[in-house]
Amino acid sequence: MHISVFDHEGALAAALATRVADLVAARPATVLGLPTGRTPLPFYEQLVALSRARGLDWSEVRTFNLDEFVGLGAGDPGSYRRFMEERLFAPLGIAPGQVGFLDGRAGDLEAECARYEAAIAAAGGIDLQLLGIGANGHIGFNEPGDHLEAPTHVVTLLARSRAANALWFGGELARVPGQALSMGMAAILRSREIILLATGAEKAEAVQAAVRGPLTTRVPASFLQLHPRVSLFLDAEAAERLG
Ligand code: GLP
Repeated sequence: MHISVFDHEGALAAALATRVADLVAARPATVLGLPTGRTPLPFYEQLVALSRARGLDWSEVRTFNLDEFVGLGAGDPGSYRRFMEERLFAPLGIAPGQVGFLDGRAGDLEAECARYEAAIAAAGGIDLQLLGIGANGHIGFNEPGDHLEAPTHVVTLLARSRAANALWFGGELARVPGQALSMGMAAILRSREIILLATGAEKAEAVQAAVRGPLTTRVPASFLQLHPRVSLFLDAEAAERLG
């Protein structure tokens, strides 16, 4: 794993925005895998600003997001689809036809997961997958436990993950759905390149376990050690336990 440590999250966001903008400029039909959460917000802001400054063309880019809450769709505040529309897709002019998303309102959730994997394959696979990490070591919504489901699947969320997402629901835990759809670790590991972002001291333990710990379903992010092209973009606090 290649580890880059930045003094603060603004510097991390700027470096990553430059990296992604350069990729899109060099390869306009890039397929990006994208995360939601607080961590990527400064990056998305900087990417929008940099893209506007450079006049970058996003019309051939394809995107696939990691996860979505069951029962929620683009029209719902709190949905990851809405998050992405507001922060990235609308500001960059990325049209719905370019966007891949798990549909949390699909009637048949298992079929929706299979459809999503097929859509990623039909797009040629993901060139660059960006990831956040949960404080409990989750990736997307691959939760720690006795086992991991490798394919894209339906997840029952752990209490800690629901609590971490309450901020997208006006701080009301009761409004956070109990289930989600998530790309599985197999789909994530098929990406040609992966960059994991982590900021803040509350991520330091998960980062340490992911990078230095054994492969274990108790830390889904530890499976990133199996991938040949993984970079970590960390701020100093998230890196503090790496020594
Ligand atoms: C959320 C998302 C993940 C995200 C993680 C960290 O629950 N499902 O995709 O990476 O938890 O979120 P944050 O960046 O807000 O800490």
